[in-house]
Amino acid sequence: MGRLEGKTAIVTGGARGLGGAAVDALAAEGAVVVIADMLDEAGAARAAKLNAEGRKAEYVHLDVRDTANWAALVSGVVARHGRLDILVNNAGINAPVTIEDATAEQFRAILEVNLIGPFLGMKAVIPAMRASGGGSIINMASNSTQMVLPLTSLYGASKSALANLTKSTAVHCAQRGYNIRVNSIHPGAHETEMLLGNGGAKPADIPQVRSLINAIPMGRMGKPSEIGSVVVFLASEDSSYMTASELFSDGGLTVVSFGADPAQQ
Ligand SMILES: NC(=O)c1ccc[n+]([C@@H]2O[C@H](COP(=O)([O-])OP(=O)(O)OC[C@H]3O[C@@H](n4cnc5c(N)ncnc54)[C@H](O)[C@@H]3O)[C@@H](O)[C@H]2O)c1
Repeated sequence: MGRLEGKTAIVTGGARGLGGAAVDALAAEGAVVVIADMLDEAGAARAAKLNAEGRKAEYVHLDVRDTANWAALVSGVVARHGRLDILVNNAGINAPVTIEDATAEQFRAILEVNLIGPFLGMKAVIPAMRASGGGSIINMASNSTQMVLPLTSLYGASKSALANLTKSTAVHCAQRGYNIRVNSIHPGAHETEMLLGNGGAKPADIPQVRSLINAIPMGRMGKPSEIGSVVVFLASEDSSYMTASELFSDGGLTVVSFGADPAQQ
């Protein structure tokens, strides 16, 4: 029997990448998984594949920036499945740009998805999780909360704010006795379209980003499934005493010291 049998989970940005891996891992542990994304075709295809394999999944269109979308998603999930236990706030965007090149519009756009999106999600699910007797919220931050490069200006700021919001929400829920745990995962470089691109420009080809990847102590990028298993750990009772935690999964990169050029270290 899976560790998440009888549980219902929502994964934002679950159509592909790290979110897709989280969907697969949660479903493999027996959860009913709701893939919430704007990539309708890829999301529906992932749900169909899982169902054909005997798992339980469905796809719902969600723009994480939209409060009404969140309300409809959560009420629909509770109506169809009777409960909500797990939220993975995974949807995110990147904009590798320095403070001098960045525009306010770029910053607002990244904050809307990476910070306001999870904020809206947490507000939307807390009442449903309380009604279900508790739950686990997992926010996908980044090791850029610790690993700073000139190009992580906007992205790192959004993820650092998300990590902080994670902790205040965790303490709030714990002190209110909601039995809702809230933690963040801080991935390093992983093999997804965010870093490797999709036929177009590859952030991984930017020299500074490439130097960073070359400096990973374990000598390789992470596989999406290696984040999926961390998500399952935080979603399950295996982490029952963990809340307000930051879990880094980055091949050891965060603790390496850098000078101006990581490739020279
Ligand atoms: N790949 C990495 O190396 C890495 C490292 C650290 C953190 N992360 C974080 O992990 C998460 C997933 O990244 P990924 O690499 O899988 O990226 P990805 O680009 O492959 O996938 C992101 C998903 O989020 C969805 N999405 C984007 N905006 C959305 C919105 N407004 N509403 C709903 N869905 C939306 C996309 O459609 C896509 O399915 C992100 O939060 C990212 O910041 C990734």
